[in-house]
Amino acid sequence: MSETEMKKYCSMAIKERDNAYSPYSNISVGAVLVTKDGKIYCGANIENASFTPTVCAERVAFFKAVNSGERHFSKIFIAGGKCGEPSSDYFPPCGVCRQVMAEFCNDDFEVILVKENGYKKITFPEILPYRFDSNFM
Ligand code: THU
Repeated sequence: MSETEMKKYCSMAIKERDNAYSPYSNISVGAVLVTKDGKIYCGANIENASFTPTVCAERVAFFKAVNSGERHFSKIFIAGGKCGEPSSDYFPPCGVCRQVMAEFCNDDFEVILVKENGYKKITFPEILPYRFDSNFM
């Protein structure tokens, strides 16, 4: 992916934060999931008064994509921070989201942490080493 495209998806992840429904934590997260054939699925976190039904931005993006028939993923861009404030720091995915990635992604999947003026690319084995997946089932 070209640097221009990388920057476009970084901006898209930051913009996607606007779609969060997060009145309890006041944290908004945006994710842009890119399939191997270049389609994109966006997601933002959706909270609930009962707390446990809350779904992270990354899982919203994955579930939209998987429910649309996608199975092969290339990258995910993630940006987060306090609602109404810029993404001043990287916002890494939680363990549950990493496990969902493990179901659908190979070692070549990349997680791109996004902040206002930069990004950090991490390979999937780096972010979730020694993962549990379908190979054990
Ligand atoms: N959150 C995400 O959307 N992604 C993560 O990987 C970590 C946490 C959301 C869930 C909740 O709405 C808020 O951030 C605070 O935990």
